[in-house]
Amino acid sequence: MEKLLVRGKKRLVGEVNISGAKNAAVAVLPAAVMCSGVSVLENLPDIEDVACICTTIEKLGGTCTYRDSHTLEIDCSKGIAYSATFEEVERIRASYYFLGALLARYKKAEVAMPGGCNFGKRPIDLHLKGFRALGATVIEEDGVVKAYADKLVGTSIYMDQVSVGATINVMLAATMAEGTTTIENAAKEPHVVDTANYLNMMGANIKGAGTDVIRIKGVSELHQAQYAIIPDQIEAGTYMIAAAITGGDVVVNNIIPKHMDSLTAKLEEMNVGIEERDESIRVTATHPLRGIDVKTMSYPGFPTDLQPQMAALLSICVGKSVLTENVWENRYQYMDELRKMGAKVDVNGRVATIEGVPHFVGAEVSATDLRAGAAMILAALAAEGETIIDGLRYIDRGYENVEHKFNAMGADIVRI
Ligand code: UD1
Repeated sequence: MEKLLVRGKKRLVGEVNISGAKNAAVAVLPAAVMCSGVSVLENLPDIEDVACICTTIEKLGGTCTYRDSHTLEIDCSKGIAYSATFEEVERIRASYYFLGALLARYKKAEVAMPGGCNFGKRPIDLHLKGFRALGATVIEEDGVVKAYADKLVGTSIYMDQVSVGATINVMLAATMAEGTTTIENAAKEPHVVDTANYLNMMGANIKGAGTDVIRIKGVSELHQAQYAIIPDQIEAGTYMIAAAITGGDVVVNNIIPKHMDSLTAKLEEMNVGIEERDESIRVTATHPLRGIDVKTMSYPGFPTDLQPQMAALLSICVGKSVLTENVWENRYQYMDELRKMGAKVDVNGRVATIEGVPHFVGAEVSATDLRAGAAMILAALAAEGETIIDGLRYIDRGYENVEHKFNAMGADIVRI
């Protein structure tokens, strides 16, 4: 099994280009099966989750052809199956978007229950509630969600909780429903907006994405479109934190700086230098940095997907920091791994109290999930000595060319 060997205490200096957003790509790709033409998606990240969704589309009967490593042609013009119950679907969380997409196009869908990172309970009740409100019959049987409708009819749906997945999934289904659907208390994440923009390019009529009320006037069919995926907010944030944790000087390119506001505010509070440009941010840091408090929230709040990386940084800041995880009930499983590297953390439910230590020490650690894996790399970059990181399959799910991007800025990371 592959591992990463990281020789630490290397200051990162240079530039890094951010790839297309994983969480947008995994929603936009299933959306592409809703049209009966040939879609072209640009700026797709070259990561395992995207490969897994492409395999799913091919197993359903579509074809996926790469024009280059980041541009994909998806041809579902001959029609595809509505039942996705194979192994790839169970491997990742976002396969639930095939429910909304297939339900929109065929008014029937069967999709195996999604897998993905384990942060405690990850229900999809709000997705199913939304489909039912649109008129579908939904049953869960032997690990498969089955949804059928004679027709979908637009309605008003209030999300009991802000959910990215439920907002996008219901938006997909409502795109081809009869009449108008209103989603209230909708998630406002950049990938919700990106999916809506792509659907609109295909002929959908969606207004308000990016606010907490989305209005969708149903259309009877969608046409093919060419679309470029937005840059990855979380990958960008990971490299920004990497610059800070190594006391480095890094320009993070190909991003939308506005998406980074909650992180830049926190980094500035810690005394990290931030210089915003049109499509990039320069991050400069001189240690010691100041410990601060961080609470995760839905967008535009501080993203839960940057919480583990931030915990690594706070671990070597001066003083006490308090992290509060408001999105997932159990997203501190990786703290034992950080402790192996010398972090002083006390976890009590959703609150983690971190006492800064002068530096990490290299150790053998495991990536317990995707973003926890990123946190291990960051801690290892700042550590005295060598760190070996196991569980690479998680990191490869969401980070393109991870060791190459870091090594180009002076890191010493080898895949062994
Ligand atoms: C997405 C992201 C994930 C990120 C999360 C929060 C993708 C593929 N994944 O996950 O990386 O951590 O947003 O930003 O985009 N909930 C319910 N019922 C539901 C759905 C959600 O109770 O039907 C709860 C969840 O338990 C959680 C909260 O709502 O506490 C937010 O979850 P949600 O935004 O849906 O996360 P995902 O879309 O699964």
